[in-house]
Amino acid sequence: MKNEIALMKKGQMMNIEQKKVVIVTGASSGIGKETVRRFLDEGYEVYAGARRLDAMRDLGQSGAHLVYLDLTKGESIDACVAQVLSQSGRIDVLVNNAGYGAYGAVEEVPLSAARDQMEVNLFALAHLIQAVLPAMRERRSGRIINVTSIGGRVWSLLGAWYHASKFAVEGFSDALRNELRPFGIDVIVVEPGAIKTEWGSIAAENVKKTSAQGPYRELAEAAARILSMESIGVPPRMIADTIWRAASVRHPQPRYIAPFSARMIVWLRWLLSDRAFDRIWSRFYGLPRTITASGQAQKSLAKS
Ligand SMILES: NC(=O)c1ccc[n+]([C@@H]2O[C@H](COP(=O)([O-])OP(=O)(O)OC[C@H]3O[C@@H](n4cnc5c(N)ncnc54)[C@H](OP(=O)(O)O)[C@@H]3O)[C@@H](O)[C@H]2O)c1
Repeated sequence: MKNEIALMKKGQMMNIEQKKVVIVTGASSGIGKETVRRFLDEGYEVYAGARRLDAMRDLGQSGAHLVYLDLTKGESIDACVAQVLSQSGRIDVLVNNAGYGAYGAVEEVPLSAARDQMEVNLFALAHLIQAVLPAMRERRSGRIINVTSIGGRVWSLLGAWYHASKFAVEGFSDALRNELRPFGIDVIVVEPGAIKTEWGSIAAENVKKTSAQGPYRELAEAAARILSMESIGVPPRMIADTIWRAASVRHPQPRYIAPFSARMIVWLRWLLSDRAFDRIWSRFYGLPRTITASGQAQKSLAKS
């Protein structure tokens, strides 16, 4: 009997030990929240990080560990990873998902806001990677999934700083993938297209706040219109499924693009010259050909 209890205890311990551990950033909304749910469904021990703990209460009730995480603060990142390691002793997957779009005309986005953009979308992602790597390297296994965007391959109107951050994560991830391969750690990029989350409204608010009054008014209105178009997005569950695939298949691809429409856009970008792509993409945005000194937009490229 004693042995059985010991064995049961051992079995339970083994189960606990074998439960894989994932950290998901940006878990209070959209893609991150759905990703947490997906990993919970798959039996993972999930650490959900974001600033809005209230917005993650439902995830806590479903069994996720909630972690306050402010990506603009290095000590918050270190504390998050330290908590995971002390509670669970391992990290199998890091999903670097948190991010936002500091949209606005380059002339008008304060450089402090641009630095914040790079801080959250690039440097915080790198900080998290630095923090989890010693534990992953020691176990000779792990997966780092960086959620970038098709905005890491293709421009959008008044999105220069967002694209700077996402293009940067693309190049960063390519180098890191090869740097970590000898240690048995995979680095994967997931590139969503338009997804129905809070992201679009936050980016639209940013572009309006920054550029709706001055010489870029017409462009800001066009950008905000597209950013707020919920109808072009797909549910975030689709990206959560893609992230799960990247985390669970035996040999992950370096890149996953979803949904299908996003793959088509990246394919078009690859196929066309810069000028030809600009022409088509400008048409989509209704970008005017010129803006007069009095601020009047003239002739959309579509009609040229
Ligand atoms: N939705 C799209 O169309 C789309 C398309 C391509 C790529 N993406 C990318 O997908 C990722 C997820 O976006 P989403 O669409 O799910 O957007 P979302 O609904 O706005 O969620 C963004 C998440 O990022 C977190 N976050 C933002 N700033 C943070 C900070 N300083 N510290 C900690 N967390 C922060 C937010 O949490 P708190 O505010 O609670 O901290 C939130 O949980 C982003 O990297 C985004 O660029 C989205």
